[in-house]
Amino acid sequence: MELKAIPKNFMWGGSTSAFQVEGAYQEDGKGLSIADIRSFTKSGQQLDTKETADHYHHWEEDLELMRELGMTSYRFSISWPRIFPNGDETTPNQAGLDFYHQLIDRLLEYGIEPIVTMYHFDQPIGLIKKYGGWANRQSVADFVKYADCLLTEFGDKVRYWLTINEQAVLVVASDMIGIHPDLPAEQRFQLAFQANYHMWLAQAIVYKKFHQQFPSGFIGPAVSYITTLPASRKSYDMMAAKQLEDFYSFAQMDVALKGKIPKYFQNELTKMGITITTQVGDEEILSNGRANYLGINWYCTTIVEANMDIDEKAPILQRMKRIEDPDLVYTKWGWNFDPRGLQYGLRQLMDRYGQIPIVITECGWSEEETLEDGKVHDSQRIAYLQEHIQQMAYAMEDGVNVISFNPWSFIDLLSVGDGMEKRYGMVFVDRTNFDSKEQKRYKKDSFYFYQQLIASHANQ
Ligand code: BG6
Repeated sequence: MELKAIPKNFMWGGSTSAFQVEGAYQEDGKGLSIADIRSFTKSGQQLDTKETADHYHHWEEDLELMRELGMTSYRFSISWPRIFPNGDETTPNQAGLDFYHQLIDRLLEYGIEPIVTMYHFDQPIGLIKKYGGWANRQSVADFVKYADCLLTEFGDKVRYWLTINEQAVLVVASDMIGIHPDLPAEQRFQLAFQANYHMWLAQAIVYKKFHQQFPSGFIGPAVSYITTLPASRKSYDMMAAKQLEDFYSFAQMDVALKGKIPKYFQNELTKMGITITTQVGDEEILSNGRANYLGINWYCTTIVEANMDIDEKAPILQRMKRIEDPDLVYTKWGWNFDPRGLQYGLRQLMDRYGQIPIVITECGWSEEETLEDGKVHDSQRIAYLQEHIQQMAYAMEDGVNVISFNPWSFIDLLSVGDGMEKRYGMVFVDRTNFDSKEQKRYKKDSFYFYQQLIASHANQ
């Protein structure tokens, strides 16, 4: 591999999130989150959040594996309801804080930089029951209180923070923020985009406070960046791809980095008949609180064609169709293998945001896997890692400022959509949906591949 463009201080990591990996869903005072409640609706059909990979009890062993792998960063999330079980308490849950103190201290001892997400899909259900969650402006204050608490506790140990994971996903799949899926579509979208606005305000307030307290630290969003390609070279397909990518991914980055809601986004909302309730002073809040780096979750490309039967003035969500490219390999779940798309996506980020530091916070390949004689031969994941890292290095050669790569996921964990069937880890967790066995950990072939890559890069 040609990795010469990757500097020696580059952070080679791995990624997880709290509700997907920790388990211990009610231990030491933890409250329930919307992610727990959503998973319980499928409890009879697949794994739920109650135990998952039981990292809460296996964290020491897991960190030992990270050290053995040679990781120099670890991107994980803090469980919001472990800190504020109901969300509206005035004092945090000490046992929750203690858990993350010991985890972070051990990471630092091992020379692994913590990259910490404050909120990864798990708003306390208490806030949703009390006032409807993010759709209500009160959520802004409750998130800021939670973020303040994290920065007070961990701000002197953690240099890299991510506020909100995949905000656009929360808007599109709005049951993840407690908006009832049976509501009529217009009502759901109205609530979801109001919630989106509140999240923008909340993160802007946190960005501003953070820069004042920790001027040498980094804070930003973890954006779902789906590089969107046109199905043909026809300008109508190209325009549809651009509009979708702007609306879904770039709007999130533009607001965080430029401090202003872009006109193209506002126009889409108008076409959808959505009106956002704002208050005097909001524009200043957005403009005064900006991210100083970018987390991107990048898995694959999506290919889009314009639906020419629909008026060009209709919202982009109604005017486009996603198609499969027959030349690409897809997982069983419809995610393609298109590494050059990553190079292209990274180049687009440089075009738009210049030398902004970029952390690839997620990137990975899923498979159904079983253990054979204590081994997992995950050759497709190895190919995925190899080719995506190579394409990232090419983008860096051309000037893109990537500072860290964190594959999803370090270890097998609960998939948001598909329980324990769909595995992403470099470490295999020996459990099934319904049988937790002993939760034994096994290194997959991809573990050894990544270990060797990190070591050889260090010696180049
Ligand atoms: C990202 C999320 O969208 O994709 C992760 O940040 C998630 O939490 C990952 O696990 C993969 O999605 P899924 O549905 O396969 O778990």
